[in-house]
Amino acid sequence: MLDVVFLAMFAVVPVLAWSIYLVRNKRNYALHKRVQLALGIILGVAVLLFEIDMRITGWRDRAIPSAFNVEGSMNDWIEYALAVHLFFAIPTALLWIFVIVRALSKFDSPPVPNAYSRTHRFWAWIAAFEMFMTSVTGWIFYYLAFIG
Ligand code: HEM
Repeated sequence: MLDVVFLAMFAVVPVLAWSIYLVRNKRNYALHKRVQLALGIILGVAVLLFEIDMRITGWRDRAIPSAFNVEGSMNDWIEYALAVHLFFAIPTALLWIFVIVRALSKFDSPPVPNAYSRTHRFWAWIAAFEMFMTSVTGWIFYYLAFIG
């Protein structure tokens, strides 16, 4: 699951960028909505399975061969990278739920710009930035723990 989520996070950034391009440049609000809902659901399921996997098998044993690991005990760099990753990942999950639920209730179906647009743009840009940071910090953690 760790590897699946790692690979999924590589796909998220370009798909998110494409979805924002769809609204900004193409004004394709309906496709933007579908892409965001799909991303939200796929990421939600992936995170759930990932959390279950981590609770059952953990990751520390698998990080022992890492060069960033000192004498079998966890190196501070790996723990620090995980803390930074979680600092972004936890608010991102909550913010995405908030942005999606609010957009679904405030925009018509099919969605078109309305009085809620300004608020959506404000929170949605933060949500997109937070997701980007979650991906980048996740890759750094993965590299330090399992590749390095
Ligand atoms: C976490 C999920 C979502 C993210 C990250 C997101 C991201 C964005 C961003 C960054 C923009 C502004 C683009 C610009 O600067 O012009 C935008 C616009 C828009 N989004 Fe989303 N979005 C999400 C979910 C949704 C959903 C579920 C809907 C529909 C129900 C939706 C409908 C719209 C519409 C109609 C606009 C155009 C607003 C306007 O400029 O008038 N979005 N979205």
